[in-house]
Amino acid sequence: QGTELLAEEPPVDLGALAEGIARCRRCQIGCNGTAAVPGEGSPGARLMIVGEQPGDNEEMAGRPFVGPAGEVLNAHLAAAGIDRQDAYVTNAVKHFKFTARGKQRLHQNPTAREIDTCRWWLDKERALVHPRIVLALGASAVRGLTGRTPSIGRERGRLLSLPDGVPFLLTAHPSYLLRLDGAAREREEANFASDLAALASHLRDP
Ligand code: URA
Repeated sequence: QGTELLAEEPPVDLGALAEGIARCRRCQIGCNGTAAVPGEGSPGARLMIVGEQPGDNEEMAGRPFVGPAGEVLNAHLAAAGIDRQDAYVTNAVKHFKFTARGKQRLHQNPTAREIDTCRWWLDKERALVHPRIVLALGASAVRGLTGRTPSIGRERGRLLSLPDGVPFLLTAHPSYLLRLDGAAREREEANFASDLAALASHLRDP
């Protein structure tokens, strides 16, 4: 199956890309029976936002970042003056990886290898959307964009470059904020807000 994908022609548009990921069985996650979740937004968006993988809510809705992590993201984008409608929102991995516990489907992190396998699609998506700047939410997003795993502590909030020179900014994944409380949550919310403020300023003044 891997060879089939390598032999596949790059999708000509985002519709063809969505069809391609829906039938992709190149990794175990693609084979687990869930529906692929394509990116969402305008093909001409200046900003691309990349998360890790769809969660339970996203898989059911067929749209990225519609669950609790999406609410955190939306609130921070709005506070920074960035309109989500102007961005193209997608994930490093297009299928939902989970373990079943009773009726619940519990999120599992994709492996580096699974992210690297899905990178073919993320690269094609980026070539079609052609964003001027990319916001990477968490380490898996950077892995998907660059093939390397970053240090969030050292690299967040600064403008970095993708291998093809497109600037990107790394911040924490919103799900990480949701796992914190008290002072740690406040501190990370403030860091997230400051990273998005830096992004907004790059968007205004590239
Ligand atoms: N987390 C992600 O990384 N992406 C989504 O689409 C939802 C939650």
